[in-house]
Amino acid sequence: MNVVKGSMSTDHHAGLEDVEVLPSKICDIRQDRLSLRGYNIIDLAANASFEEVVYLLWNDALPSSQALQDFKSALRAEYSLPREIIEHINHVPREAHPMAVLRTLVSSLGLYDPEASDNSPPALRRCSIRLLAKMPLLVAAIARHRNARSYITPNPELDIAANFLYSLYGEVPDKETARLLETVLILYSEHELNASTFAARVTAATLADTYSCIVTAVSTLQGGLHGGANQQALEMLLTIGSPENVEDYILPRLRRKEIIMGFGHRVYKKGDPRVPVLKRMCIELAKKSGQEKLIATAERAEAIMLKEKNLYPNVDFYGGLAFYLLGLSSDLFTCVFALSRTAGYLAHIAEQYQENKLIRPRAIYTGKKDLQYVPLEKR
Ligand SMILES: CC(C)(COP(=O)(O)OP(=O)(O)OC[C@H]1O[C@@H](n2cnc3c(N)ncnc32)[C@H](O)[C@@H]1OP(=O)(O)O)[C@@H](O)C(=O)NCCC(=O)NCCS
Repeated sequence: MNVVKGSMSTDHHAGLEDVEVLPSKICDIRQDRLSLRGYNIIDLAANASFEEVVYLLWNDALPSSQALQDFKSALRAEYSLPREIIEHINHVPREAHPMAVLRTLVSSLGLYDPEASDNSPPALRRCSIRLLAKMPLLVAAIARHRNARSYITPNPELDIAANFLYSLYGEVPDKETARLLETVLILYSEHELNASTFAARVTAATLADTYSCIVTAVSTLQGGLHGGANQQALEMLLTIGSPENVEDYILPRLRRKEIIMGFGHRVYKKGDPRVPVLKRMCIELAKKSGQEKLIATAERAEAIMLKEKNLYPNVDFYGGLAFYLLGLSSDLFTCVFALSRTAGYLAHIAEQYQENKLIRPRAIYTGKKDLQYVPLEKR
């Protein structure tokens, strides 16, 4: 950690790159291996349910089958939105970006939670269950409103992934589709001190309430360099259209020093461990739907980015493609990322409240100094 005491150092870590700012028991990234509470995420994605992973994140242990059943029942009991929130959704501009609407609605949701300002562990646990259960409903309701469709009452028989698809389309999804979406949710569920989680912890460290922390996180996630990248990367692939167009699209942009969405990572410099799982899923889905050209286009982009910049695709490159091949509309991708990452946010918020210290770094002042105030009439 770069520690600045007394006189200010001129040395600093731009973007806090490689700075370890706090201890955490939630997520471990080492040598391009990603573990949640000690379990490799690839193992979890292959074997666990999303609810199991959430339980693990919040309890530091996998649930017994009874504990999992109780946890799922507690979540399902919260599969509803306040009537006022549904009315609110009906009044937001249809053309507003779903992430802007989600940010606003998470904030509104807090107004209807009588425990919103109680940060004690039992109240936080209940509030976390409510938030995690309701986020998918918000996203589905926002999407339906955008398409002039009415709210669908959620199905308490279904797990989170399946219920999200049900709330979106009004039909119980087939098991395979629900499981594929669930796998993506697991891969997106937690990722250490990424920008939005860090932002949530900064907010929690002031002892602000949980809804404020999640609003902070969702607001931070929507940026193009973070969660917003999955939508932009997919839309880029669709614009490119086919493998033979990739060079003409990417090379001039790289020459102009533009960013190609879905490539590069602050932490993984030799590839994102979540990508191989997502890529395999995309290849299977593309084969089934006759969209192999999209995979060929993505692979060509991968090859060019590696050759030109030594950069690898990140979770958002193939995460966005997976969402597209699962039939989701691209403007929803970042919201789906948000509903999944809410699991991680809430684990970090709880950890921050437990071991709190206000997060308040220092800046290295580089502005003007020692100026004399000049009265208004003399300027
Ligand atoms: C994720 C990201 C913000 C990480 O940024 P970072 O850790 O600060 O990495 P840097 O900006 O230091 O990257 C090093 C070099 O690679 C370049 N670079 C990084 N990602 C790039 C990208 N996607 N396209 C083109 N060039 C890129 C940088 O411009 C820089 O070039 P330079 O050395 O000539 O100045 C960055 O890779 C990026 O903007 N990616 C695209 C957005 C994205 O996919 N975000 C989702 C992340 S999961």
